[in-house]
Amino acid sequence: MKEKLKEIKEQAEKEIKSLEDSEKLKEIQVKYLGKKGEITGVLRSMGKLSPEERPVIGKLANQVKEEISQLIEERKAFLKEREREGELNRERIDVTLPGTRPPVSRAHPLTLVMEEIEEIFLGMGFTIADGPEIETDYYNFEALNIPREHPARDMQDSFYITEEILLRTHTSPVQIRTMEKVAPEVPLRIIAPGKVFRRDDDATHSPMFHQVEGFAVDQDISMGDLKGTLLLFARQIFGESLEIRLRPSFFPFTEPSAEVDISCVICGGGGCRVCGQSGWLEVLGAGMIHPRVLEVSGYDPNKVTGYAFGMGVERIAMLKYNIDDLRLFFTNDLRMLKQF
Ligand code: FA5
Ligand code: MG
Repeated sequence: MKEKLKEIKEQAEKEIKSLEDSEKLKEIQVKYLGKKGEITGVLRSMGKLSPEERPVIGKLANQVKEEISQLIEERKAFLKEREREGELNRERIDVTLPGTRPPVSRAHPLTLVMEEIEEIFLGMGFTIADGPEIETDYYNFEALNIPREHPARDMQDSFYITEEILLRTHTSPVQIRTMEKVAPEVPLRIIAPGKVFRRDDDATHSPMFHQVEGFAVDQDISMGDLKGTLLLFARQIFGESLEIRLRPSFFPFTEPSAEVDISCVICGGGGCRVCGQSGWLEVLGAGMIHPRVLEVSGYDPNKVTGYAFGMGVERIAMLKYNIDDLRLFFTNDLRMLKQF
């Protein structure tokens, strides 16, 4: 029986020491130390022994039991420590490695151009005003001297919500909204940047685009003030060598009206494909605020005059960055947007 116990101990020792999985330790514990385990088996068969042998074997069996328990405990601690080390190794952080840079957002080119336009006019003493994108027929057309059956409405076909409410087709309604709030107080020097909407869709026309409205009201404001202001603006945004020219045109809310061209930023005025060999590029509409528009806004057109202009921001951005398709601004292709 001594032999048997020795054998059990050796066997257990071998098994425990080669064990890799701490879960399996429980099975071993049951196998050797449990109620139906090997040691219990030996103790049970002690009845066959002589009274002298019994205490000797009993003592030895308990000793072996004790030793096996200890081996199990040791193995358990060992495996646990090894697991912890593994975890630490896996989670090791090398603080000297370069970090992963999260993608950083940037301003859209139209936002950049819009901000640049704002900066220039703020520098000339203008203030920024705002108006709703959903506008009434009155502010978008009627008050701007474009009555219901006027053919000028055809050029600004719009998205109507009801007969009376539409998405604004230009930023000019901000003229009325601002003037009627402060009239007859002067001077007034305002720019109004924002989104506008039209039923348009091609390489140079988008259903949603941006305009910056600008206007000034004071005593003795003249066409010369308009031209000087626009020349200063154009030179700041496109370069000092730039020239502008005013061509007679028509808008129901200005009189006289003009289309304003800048000398071609590509060829410098000599004539090229971009400017259609003319040397000039159209960038905005402008004019002297129509007396009737001043009047509906609460001014006395005999006492004050004003000028107004409205530029397409996409147009300015296309010329500034040499972009030949306006739709590129709205397709959100990162290869394009990342260049700004
Ligand atoms: C107007 O909208 C007038 N309100 C401008 C104005 C203001 C005149 C104050 C006089 C006094 P027009 O329809 O021409 O005018 O538009 C002005 C500019 O908006 C155009 O020169 C063009 O650059 C831009 N634009 C017009 N339609 C579109 C479109 N569908 N997509 C992109 N840009 C456009
Ligand atoms: Mg036009």
